[in-house]
Order: sequence, then structure tokens, then C-alpha cells
Amino acid sequence: MKEYVVAILGATGAVGQRLISELEHAQIPVKEVKLLASKNSAGKKLKFKNQEIKVEEARPDSFNGVDLVLSSAGGAVSQKLLPEAVKRGAVCVDNTSAFRMADDVPLIVPGVNDDQLVNHHGIIANPNCSTIQMVAALYPLHVKWGIKQIIVSTYQAVSGAGKAARDELLQQAQDRLNNQETEAKILPTASAKKHYPIAFNLLPQIDVFEDDGYTHEEWKMIHETKKILYNDQDSQQIKVTATCVRVPVEIGHGETVYFVLKDKSVTAAAIQQEIKKTPGLVLQDDPQNQIYPQPLLAAGKKETFVGRIRPDQENPGAFNMWVVADNLLRGAASNTVEIAECLVRDNLVHVPK
Ligand SMILES: NC(=O)c1ccc[n+]([C@@H]2O[C@H](COP(=O)([O-])OP(=O)(O)OC[C@H]3O[C@@H](n4cnc5c(N)ncnc54)[C@H](OP(=O)(O)O)[C@@H]3O)[C@@H](O)[C@H]2O)c1
Repeated sequence: MKEYVVAILGATGAVGQRLISELEHAQIPVKEVKLLASKNSAGKKLKFKNQEIKVEEARPDSFNGVDLVLSSAGGAVSQKLLPEAVKRGAVCVDNTSAFRMADDVPLIVPGVNDDQLVNHHGIIANPNCSTIQMVAALYPLHVKWGIKQIIVSTYQAVSGAGKAARDELLQQAQDRLNNQETEAKILPTASAKKHYPIAFNLLPQIDVFEDDGYTHEEWKMIHETKKILYNDQDSQQIKVTATCVRVPVEIGHGETVYFVLKDKSVTAAAIQQEIKKTPGLVLQDDPQNQIYPQPLLAAGKKETFVGRIRPDQENPGAFNMWVVADNLLRGAASNTVEIAECLVRDNLVHVPK
């Protein structure tokens, strides 16, 4: 059986740490693991299956002899280093937005469109965290009844903006409780001109603003959904709109998802049945007993949790639902490692000539 040399790029980060633990349990025969990060982390030791591994500074020649790269070190690093890895024969699964919209890069949610993996040219993209959980929850309904329109509002945890943002929330909360002044340096987004506190606050900005008034996160949810469902980022076969909000939660994104089915006769009970029988989805929908998904309950789990399914009483075929998932696992590391498992399963860990 072939064994693979796997590199984790961004191994010290919020997603990178989970990539390490997901890889430990993956259906991937691992010969060797290389842990790569910035030069600040070079020499630091991290564990893979109880074995200490030294973190190395990521450079082009770090990918010599590597079969698979699981990448999560930011878009600029991916832009620079992944083509170097591919040149050296490695297949890369990338968590950043650097290549998601490239025509020759499949954008994959396993169980939804992993049949597209055969078209890879060395780089495969992992969708945005908020897109993954929404598409995972809607896909079985789309297959059975067809979805015409999606209107989503997100409630996104701070860990979605990396380790530093999570630390910032905790520090601000502590300062506030101690009646000290709070300092904001990271959120809403590190590159922004202004920063605002997230503790005891809500920020209706994730990523930068586009000229049309949408944030880039909202743009990603719209166009990634179209690419995943129709292999066309501008598909007119489905209408999607989004509002993305950062909330003072550590881990776990929540989403209110309003969707309109082509079939107007569908009931909430039929939707619940479909969710219940889909692997990877967990139905938590019992309002009488106050059972519904929550970030605190989803954190640390790989599944997508769905509840509060109810029809729009004035628009037949339209429904509201509430979807929660661990953004670092379901929205990032688990999805990436599942893509890698599909590549191994389908014997696709090679760069086509
Ligand atoms: N957090 C999420 O929920 C989530 C979900 C989906 C996708 N993503 C995407 O995944 C990427 C990483 O996110 P994160 O939340 O894990 O961020 P993070 O916690 O800030 O971690 C960033 C990682 O990148 C490494 N890095 C930074 N500069 C580097 C360089 N020049 N060369 C090599 N490595 C470098 C860091 O190494 P050092 O420790 O040495 O600085 C660290 O390992 C981002 O593009 C993000 O958009 C995140």
C-alpha cells in the first residue's frame, strides 16, 4: 500500500492545529509528516501521534519529496508557495481563498461534489467555512426538491479570523469585566483602517468591503455556493444573498438560512427526515423540549447541526432553518482532510502532466 509524505502548511495556526489532529485519525497511510509555518515558529515542536516534530520555516524546497500538502497559512502564502509545491509534484488542498475561483481549481465539499476532484491540476480548494456548513445542510434538499433561492445571515465565531482574534476576544472580555479599557487591533479584519471591540459587541463586517457594499465574506458565500452546486460561480440557476456578522463566540458559526424550494408541496417534516438520514448532518429540532443547535454544543465536533426548521407561513415552498458547525473543523480542517481522503481513495494524489 502506498504511504504518503504529508506537509501541513500553517501547522501552528488555529486551523493548522486541527489539521494535525484530523490527519492523525484520517484514512490516509502516512509515511512522514512535515510541519511548516513562518520563520517565527521554526524550531518549535508539535506532536503528531505522540511523536515530536520540529516545525520548519516554509520555503519552496520544503516541498521536495512531499506527496500531499494541507495548506492553511493565509492567501498570500498559498499564492507564493503552492505553485512551488505543485512544481515539485505535490497535490495541495488549500484552505485559503487564494485559488477558490480559478477555473482549473475544484472547490470541494466531500459528499456534495467530490466527483469534481478528477479535474484537479494540483490544487484543490476548500470553501469558506460559512459556505461549507450551509451547503452541507442544503445539499440533500437541493438534490431532492431543487433550491431556487437562499437568503443567509451568519453569526460567525472569532476563531474564524485566526488565533489572534480569539485571543483578542478573551482579553477584551477580561478587561471589560475588570473595568479596564479594551483595545481592538485585529477585528473586524486585520488589514482594515479601523478596529472595533468584539467583546459584548457585534460587527457586521467580515473581510473587506467590495465596491457594491457587500463584504468579501458575503461575496464568497454567494459565488462559492454557485460554484459548488452548479460548477459556475455566476450561475443564474440559483439566487443567493448573504449578510455576515462576527459575534463574540469563540468557536462555532451559526446561520439563519432562508431557502425557497422549487417544489411548493414540501413539508417541514419531510425536510427533517431528509436531514436526519444524511451522513454528516445532525438534526436537533425539538422546540417543545428546547432542542436546537448551539455553538457551545457543536465545538469540537465534525458534524453540521440543523434545527428550527419551519415553513414561511406566507410563502409556500420557503423555509427558515438554523445551522451550526465548528468553523475550525467542519468549516476547515475536517473538510480539508476529507478531501485528502477522497484523493487517496480515488488514487488522485498525483499532478496530471
Ligand atoms: N479559522 C477558520 O475558521 C478558517 C476557516 C477556513 C479557512 N481559514 C483560512 O485558513 C487560513 C489560516 O487561518 P487560521 O485561522 O488558522 O490563521 P492563524 O491562526 O492566524 O494561523 C496562521 C498560520 O499561518 C502561518 N504563517 C503565517 N505567515 C506565514 C508565512 N509567511 N509562511 C509560512 N506560514 C505562515 C502561521 O505561522 P506562525 O505561527 O509561525 O505565524 C500559522 O501557522 C486563512 O487563510 C483563513 O482564511 C480559516
